[in-house]
Amino acid sequence: MRSYKLGPQKIVSGEDAIQALAELPAERKRAYIVMSGTIQEELGQLKMVTDVLEGAGFTWKAYTDVEPEPSWKTVLRGAEDMKEFEPDWVIGFGGGSAMDAAKAMWVFYENPDYTCLADVMPPNEIKTLKERARVCCIPTSAGTGSEATRAALVKDTDEHKKYSIRCMRNRMVPDVAILDPVFSTTMPPSLTAGSGMDALTHAIETYVATNANPLSDAMAIGGFITGFNNLATCYDEPENLEARAAMLEASCMAGIAFSNAALGIVHSIAHTFGAIYGVPHGMANAIVLPYGLAFNAEHSERAAKRYAQLASMVGVEDLTQAIIDLRAHMNVPSCMKEVVTDEAEVMANIDRLVAQAQADVCTPCTPHRPTDEEMRELILKVYNGR
Ligand SMILES: NC(=O)c1ccc[n+]([C@@H]2O[C@H](COP(=O)([O-])OP(=O)(O)OC[C@H]3O[C@@H](n4cnc5c(N)ncnc54)[C@H](O)[C@@H]3O)[C@@H](O)[C@H]2O)c1
Ligand SMILES: [Fe+2]
Repeated sequence: MRSYKLGPQKIVSGEDAIQALAELPAERKRAYIVMSGTIQEELGQLKMVTDVLEGAGFTWKAYTDVEPEPSWKTVLRGAEDMKEFEPDWVIGFGGGSAMDAAKAMWVFYENPDYTCLADVMPPNEIKTLKERARVCCIPTSAGTGSEATRAALVKDTDEHKKYSIRCMRNRMVPDVAILDPVFSTTMPPSLTAGSGMDALTHAIETYVATNANPLSDAMAIGGFITGFNNLATCYDEPENLEARAAMLEASCMAGIAFSNAALGIVHSIAHTFGAIYGVPHGMANAIVLPYGLAFNAEHSERAAKRYAQLASMVGVEDLTQAIIDLRAHMNVPSCMKEVVTDEAEVMANIDRLVAQAQADVCTPCTPHRPTDEEMRELILKVYNGR
């Protein structure tokens, strides 16, 4: 028996989708907007959001104090502020960091007796959700798919580990996702590349996960084809609203895909370099992806066959080579050494990198579960570029 997770109850996509904010059903009409820094405000994008909210009679407050790849301490601080404001809608407005912070803060807002990360980690099930507020996400990157997933990733800056807060009963999926391409036109090129490769990685890893299923396959294929066919255009023509809208839809589909199956070792290694060396999530995945594809194709016939299917769907001969070419087109570094330059430090830390990647939440459903020795070799290839 399978219980599918269908994503947000409402997804509104395309130019002017932001107008859908006016239709959020609310009694108290208090919206708490979570953003990662003040960039959206400086770009005039926050005003586009608040104009619609005010027009619909909402009172709002914006919380901008979320750093990229949010920490657990940030989440707790924001949750305290949220408790004072008492919203009935929480709005995550930004990239994956803002949306994840919004979702994680909301978990603590709904459960005021929670005080630490362990309260929300398995085997504990999150007690209360959707009683005090509902959640709407407006992604400005494309993307993490966080607007459609049941997870929020937070970093423990003391332990240098990344944790996934999630509700196995699917209640952490936002109620509403608004995919308005106007917001993603302002991404810096490296974020267009990194977050776009993150979306492709979600689709590709899900398609070969050992627990892939008909629904995750459909969403992974849809996300992959749409993403692969539009990412380079987004990079080359940042203002191209059609390509930006397609990329947001690709990212959302890929998010629904992995919520219904699992990711794999590309994410395990990317999480590890992100947590220990601060490599941004999308960029880390973009660097690791071709190495992960080659490793899986070598060790799993099923994965190799499925990669060949994906390649034929977008008219390329070899998926790994196509990803390498796309990556080069977008000036993504070809190995981790280009971004984490202290080689001696990394080599001294290699056992920890291996152990952390092996213990990552994404490792269990990867096509071929690496031995420690295989994981070490793979990480060294990712690092050295061989
Ligand atoms: N919940 C999930 O299912 C899920 C899935 C994948 C990744 N993630 C998480 O998402 C985070 C990464 O998100 P991301 O790649 O979207 O980057 P991000 O949200 O960290 O954004 C990076 C920077 O770019 C800025 N930015 C975002 N959109 C912009 C725009 N349109 N114009 C100008 N600046 C903009 C942000 O303010 C931030 O400073 C990581 O913490 C990762 O772990 C979560
Ligand atoms: Fe990701």
